[in-house]
Amino acid sequence: MNSDLKTSLRPFHHDRAGGALSCDGVSLGTLAKKYGTPLYVYSANQIAERLDLFQQAFSGRDHLVCYAVKANSSLAILKLLAERGAGFDIVSGGELERVIAAAPEAVGRVVFSGVGKTATEIDRALEMEILEFNVESESELALLAECARMIKKRARFALRVNPDVFAETHPYISTGLREHKFGIDIRRAAEIYRKAAKSRWLEPHGISVHIGSQIRSAQPFGAAMDRVVKLVTQLKREGIALKVVDAGGGLGIDYHGGEDGADPAAKVLEYAAAIEKALAGSDGKLLIEPGRFIVAQAGALVTRVLNVKKNGKKTFVITDAAMNDLIRPALYQAYHEIVPVKPRAGRARAVDVVGPVCETGDFFARDRMLKPVEAGDLVALLDAGAYGMAQSSNYNTRFRPAEVLVEGKQHRLIRRREEMKDLLATEII
Ligand code: LLP
Repeated sequence: MNSDLKTSLRPFHHDRAGGALSCDGVSLGTLAKKYGTPLYVYSANQIAERLDLFQQAFSGRDHLVCYAVKANSSLAILKLLAERGAGFDIVSGGELERVIAAAPEAVGRVVFSGVGKTATEIDRALEMEILEFNVESESELALLAECARMIKKRARFALRVNPDVFAETHPYISTGLREHKFGIDIRRAAEIYRKAAKSRWLEPHGISVHIGSQIRSAQPFGAAMDRVVKLVTQLKREGIALKVVDAGGGLGIDYHGGEDGADPAAKVLEYAAAIEKALAGSDGKLLIEPGRFIVAQAGALVTRVLNVKKNGKKTFVITDAAMNDLIRPALYQAYHEIVPVKPRAGRARAVDVVGPVCETGDFFARDRMLKPVEAGDLVALLDAGAYGMAQSSNYNTRFRPAEVLVEGKQHRLIRRREEMKDLLATEII
């Protein structure tokens, strides 16, 4: 293993034993005081480092890391990644506009995935000359051809094939089985490529696969890639030479922060080895679409304790962040480590950490062992950089949090907190 790739799990550390929590040395207490809570805080260094891990791991071949915008679509983060050579995997016209706003020079490095693209979205992406469309059905391919014909531009496409590979993850985020709504049955793909190859408006450019998210083992990625490579070889024999193989995203992180996840670099190398093994001997460009692995551990949601309340035997720690700010625990029973920013002395005890939203599902943790906290204390929900802010909402007419990017010893606001006028702006009485 290349030890240069060794990197840290999280940028959040206590200054010293019993000291306050900081992000790359910038105190979370200071940030909370300056910008208020709830507050998302990200380490730019870690995001750049994670991108670099993938870029180094595949440096032996022509490749492009297309960051999955859905994981965290904040403009400053997109810009940071684009400046370091990343491309982008988008799933909506809105995400395309985000890339254009943050890094217009990167639009040629965009792949457009998603099961339901509209003609308007396709038109805009054709006009912007994105790298390729990852097409998920025959009817979508017909729509793409029609849009391309109207503006007389050939559309580069990849079929997103469904390889029927099982990946161990939460059922809501597993996608690579025939029973899922995603992709085209791999057994039918060759026939569709053959037909499309005859179209004047379609260019068979690549092939793509994405088997799910938060996958911790490298094995299913290799298995999916094996099936894809077989198809690529068969098509090549028939004279359909695809230039790009897109392995999708999905590499998981260790939310428990245990030993297993102690070396993200090793995880990336293991993932790359599984893909390289399947690709052995094939040329062409490799695309990957990681989202979570790049941004999750770089981010924390900092929140203030409003109240500590006892109901019978249970203790509830009520925070000013809620399910609308970070929905992962409510939606996927996801685990996020919770750390007091300034630890108090005393024994840990089992508490429920909950938000103020009027739903029993509004919790961050149940029966979690937590060191004592009191009203006014700050706590940080770790590994919240991916699918945190991106899945936030205004439920209960709550303002979505502000976001801060820590850049070395500096920090800056990259999204201000919403205000009532932002929420009312679109409404008509
Ligand atoms: N490419 C495609 C086509 C995808 O659908 C996804 C994620 C990715 C790439 C990036 O996957 P990643 O590397 O981030 O695992 N909200 C859920 C995760 C949903 C993932 C959806 N697709 C969560 O919070 O766990």
